Amino acid sequence: MSTKPVRLEWNQSDGAGSGGVKPVLQIKDLHVSYYTDAGRAKALDGVSLDLFPGEKLGLVGESGAGKSTMALAMMRMIKPPGRIEGGQVIVDGVDLVGLSNEDMLKARLSRIAYIPQGAMNSLNPVLRIGAQMMDAIKAHGGKDKAAMKKRCIAALEAVDLRASVFENYAHELSGGMKQRVCIAIGVLLEPKVIVADEPTSALDVVTQRQVIDTIDRVCEQLGAAVILIGHDMGLMAQFVDKVAVFYAGRLAELTGVYQMFTDAKHPYAHALIDSLPNLENKGHFSGIPGVAPALLRLPSGCAFHPRCSQAMEICRTTRPKAQTLGNHIVECHLYSEPTESR
Ligand SMILES: Nc1ncnc2c1ncn2[C@@H]1O[C@H](COP(=O)(O)OP(=O)(O)OP(=O)(O)O)[C@@H](O)[C@H]1O
Ligand code: SF4
Ligand SMILES: [Mg+2]
Repeated sequence: MSTKPVRLEWNQSDGAGSGGVKPVLQIKDLHVSYYTDAGRAKALDGVSLDLFPGEKLGLVGESGAGKSTMALAMMRMIKPPGRIEGGQVIVDGVDLVGLSNEDMLKARLSRIAYIPQGAMNSLNPVLRIGAQMMDAIKAHGGKDKAAMKKRCIAALEAVDLRASVFENYAHELSGGMKQRVCIAIGVLLEPKVIVADEPTSALDVVTQRQVIDTIDRVCEQLGAAVILIGHDMGLMAQFVDKVAVFYAGRLAELTGVYQMFTDAKHPYAHALIDSLPNLENKGHFSGIPGVAPALLRLPSGCAFHPRCSQAMEICRTTRPKAQTLGNHIVECHLYSEPTESR
């Protein structure tokens, strides 16, 4: 498990928290809602976080917490009835939310790449893998066919696939190989940030580990920062540097992976870690009482309060503000002080 120093946010005035290194990704107060017949679901409700070059962030939380919405919002791929209602997604100094559609198309793959949930089913069944890869480069202005092919083969080899896969159709490949192709397409234009949404969920345990190792290696070679979305905290623990725990469209806690596993502050994050089997509890693990709230009927105040064993009166009425607590950013009244909020 990574114990490397955690960088949570960039203090522009002194650079102290980050050693002066600027974040490659800054998400600032991001809001996304889906407007359904039943009402407005705030799938992301004011999420902020920074990611530094080469860092690996794990994004966890129950189903419906807003993890995929976060990935799609970063890519500007939220479709109606959803829309981004506020905030910024700054990659390498450029706010993607403010880009024209045309500029955003260029930014995809070259600044930020996305490996979607169920990515391997996103490959076109009637086009050879090579043609799909070449199309991705062409969309970014590639013209020299030989150079483009060379680049595609290099990307395939970087993810441990044979060059011959260039000529294959998706149905000729195993699940793990298809997932590797999706990773190869993701790194084709050397993006600064790669967002992988549950890249291993449909794979067997051995292949999962291999695919994660591959993402790790190619991102390290590129110096790209990675956001890995997933439910498997065990796998996550071996891969990421820091972890963001989402609850009902909000960031409950963000801290280093080691700190999260040994000293989680937010009661929900704590419960999530406690719910994992480990050597001490010998597989007898406690669940989290209650169920994740429906976004259309979100509890008032802290959305976790009906399930929280430490809930106080204020938790029922007032949403806690995010605050920095040493190496943790945490949204919980237990730690509330009348200090600066984000
Ligand atoms: N197309 C949509 N139309 C309406 N509501 C949506 C749509 N997509 C997502 N939502 C709402 O947004 C919430 C967040 O969904 P999202 O897919 O981001 O969750 P998730 O954390 O990725 O879940 P999972 O772990 O199951 O993948 C859901 O609770 C759902 O109510
Ligand atoms: S704000 Fe209150 S209800 Fe929410 S997690 Fe903290 S203690 Fe529990
Ligand atoms: Mg999802």
